[in-house]
Amino acid sequence: MTTDGATMNRIKKIMLAACAALVCFAFPATSAARSCEGGSAAPFSERAHSICINSQKRPWIGIRDQGVFAVYASAQSEPVSNAADKKFAPLEMQFVQMLLGLLAAGLVTLVVWVVMHRRANVLIKQKQEYKKFIDQAINMIAALIDTKSPYLEGHSRRTAKYSMMVGERLGMSQAELEELYYAAIMHDIGKIGIPDSILNHRGRYSDADYAELKKHVEIGGRLLDMITVMGNISQGARYHHERIDGGGYGTGTKGSDIPLVGKIINVCSAFDSMMSNQPQRPAMEIGNVQSELLHNVGKQFDEKITAIFISLINEGAVPLKPEG
Ligand SMILES: [Fe+2]
Repeated sequence: MTTDGATMNRIKKIMLAACAALVCFAFPATSAARSCEGGSAAPFSERAHSICINSQKRPWIGIRDQGVFAVYASAQSEPVSNAADKKFAPLEMQFVQMLLGLLAAGLVTLVVWVVMHRRANVLIKQKQEYKKFIDQAINMIAALIDTKSPYLEGHSRRTAKYSMMVGERLGMSQAELEELYYAAIMHDIGKIGIPDSILNHRGRYSDADYAELKKHVEIGGRLLDMITVMGNISQGARYHHERIDGGGYGTGTKGSDIPLVGKIINVCSAFDSMMSNQPQRPAMEIGNVQSELLHNVGKQFDEKITAIFISLINEGAVPLKPEG
């Protein structure tokens, strides 16, 4: 073998040894144990601070907590004590330095990746916890609204559920659906400010009581205006009693000027109210509810949303008995 050939052979072995060391650093528990198995340097695997790869006919490398103390590549198995005696040619030294530099860079990258990965997992978990807290708080508020009257029990949750079904059929984005859900589940939050005697009033309302009841849309709108991270969340409360023909109450809006969220909640809330017992009347039959919805298309209800809702009923997607 020529001198150049011998040098290249040693360089190859050094590179192989360095690569093996990198693998050992990345996967110390498995690689070290597997690589040392049956090798002449088996004791190294028992040292917590040492990683080794050794085989009688393969390159050998040993690394300890003090740093690299020996790198020796040979086709022969040689004792550790001889490793330090070996002299490297300048070109070999450059390669050794380069490979150790790469090894160090690889280790730094690995450590950074592990730290970033763990940090990202912590942030994801925190975000999930915040989302869970918000959902639980919103559900608690919805339950609080419904406790104002036995006739309201489950109304907010069911209206939100139906609204989501309609929103999905309309092709709303995930963010729009999320906002729709919160707007729908809190659409009657203003009833917190209405006396129970009015909410539970049996028979026809007096003009004064009805005027008081109608205030819940504005009270709810103002309360939800405080939630600024979702700019449209108050639309559910403010517009759910508006009618397409302009005969509703709240803002005096009509037709296409009524925000989509308001039009969806308008249909879903009306359906649930008709299907539930009310102070003024018992729950209606589904056939009569469908007739009422269709009869009021273009008057009280938006045509497209009503058509979607009727489809959902006919497909059996909407429960015909309140689920609570
Ligand atoms: Fe309402």
